Amino acid sequence: MATRRPRIEGFAIVSREGMIAASDGSFPEVLKIPGDQKFYQDSLDRVAAVVNGRHSAEGGPKEAARKRIVLTRRVERIVPDPRNANAVLWNPATAPFEEAWMKLGAGDGTLAVVGGTDVFFLFLSIGYDTFYLSRAPGSVPRGRPVFPGIGPHGATPEEVLQKHGMVLKGRRMLDEAAGVEVEEWVSNR
Ligand SMILES: NC(=O)c1ccc[n+]([C@@H]2O[C@H](COP(=O)([O-])OP(=O)(O)OC[C@H]3O[C@@H](n4cnc5c(N)ncnc54)[C@H](OP(=O)(O)O)[C@@H]3O)[C@@H](O)[C@H]2O)c1
Repeated sequence: MATRRPRIEGFAIVSREGMIAASDGSFPEVLKIPGDQKFYQDSLDRVAAVVNGRHSAEGGPKEAARKRIVLTRRVERIVPDPRNANAVLWNPATAPFEEAWMKLGAGDGTLAVVGGTDVFFLFLSIGYDTFYLSRAPGSVPRGRPVFPGIGPHGATPEEVLQKHGMVLKGRRMLDEAAGVEVEEWVSNR
């Protein structure tokens, strides 16, 4: 029997400015970091399920085998994904998260939130237990932010996480050559 709410972990890699993608929605070269890709895929190997917007599945050979909640406004409430027996389609404006999680039937494990912007934002309210924020030194000046409102004249990703009750637990190097570290933010609630 699945619990009402799983452990929830977020995963994002951001540019110097806090962007996760270019303004046209493409994934920029400066965010394609081997050490981060390994950390990301290894992390997804230990979770029970993934949740993502329609354009943000993680890719890779194991993607189709993972249990998944896909956000879309094209359905009412929660329906099985007709193209993927491992997935449900969820419209969060019409049904609560707990119901999507129960319908997915992923047991008691961890749920990984992998974006994009609106999905990362939605789960700030549902509540992350941990958010892994990988920081790349490369620039994506006018891209799509990890959370709404981030940018040169707005907040930093760290400020948004703090505002939502998260505290920085530590950092570790993921890719020396690229100078990419991951920050581990945990809930203080
Ligand atoms: N750097 C990173 O860590 C990272 C992480 C994730 C994604 N990305 C990149 O970001 C780009 C994709 O971004 P995207 O803006 O297209 O985001 P996305 O969240 O993957 O896709 C947006 C679509 O997801 C659905 N959706 C999102 N939020 C929703 C909500 N609250 N309620 C209902 N449906 C919702 C909608 O689908 P419908 O149109 O079907 O309604 C929306 O059109 C890709 O390049 C991807 O690689 C980067």
